[in-house]
Amino acid sequence: MDKTIRFKLNGKEVLVDSPPERMLLWVLRTDLGHTGTKYGCGEGFCGACTVLVDGKPTLSCQFPLAGAEGKSVLTIEGLARGGRLHPLQQAFVDEGALQCGYCTPGMILQAYALLLRKPNPTEAEIADALDVNLCRCGSYNRIIAAVRTASQAMKMKVVDHEAR
Ligand code: FES
Ligand code: FES
Repeated sequence: MDKTIRFKLNGKEVLVDSPPERMLLWVLRTDLGHTGTKYGCGEGFCGACTVLVDGKPTLSCQFPLAGAEGKSVLTIEGLARGGRLHPLQQAFVDEGALQCGYCTPGMILQAYALLLRKPNPTEAEIADALDVNLCRCGSYNRIIAAVRTASQAMKMKVVDHEAR
């Protein structure tokens, strides 16, 4: 039976009428048109469907809509600001950290959550955090390089901001 679920999506309040046990992935993609969140395995093994729920990386193919009630959901569509890519997105472009790009939204959101809790991670820490996200194109080295580049760019942005 449908229920009205209210949550924030990329900073904006949304109301969805849907069975609460339906997986968030399908609500995002089908009901709300946020197709940046990818369907990979559908079984919790690949990380392609990763979004952040209250800042925590979450596999949306395994996360019922009811769990989003009253929470903040961030998808890849919510990272860019004012038409400018987020430093992480820019670093993926600059480092060529993708081939088909299918894993990229999940990788970026997983990396974003890491940089929020650990702004200057080592390569080992990045690899560890991204361990749940699979890249079938094998772009892992460039993905790790992109996250390192982004961490430096984000640090410079904070310093620049604090200097004003
Ligand atoms: S689609 Fe969700 S983990 Fe693979
Ligand atoms: S770039 Fe193709 S799956 Fe990662």
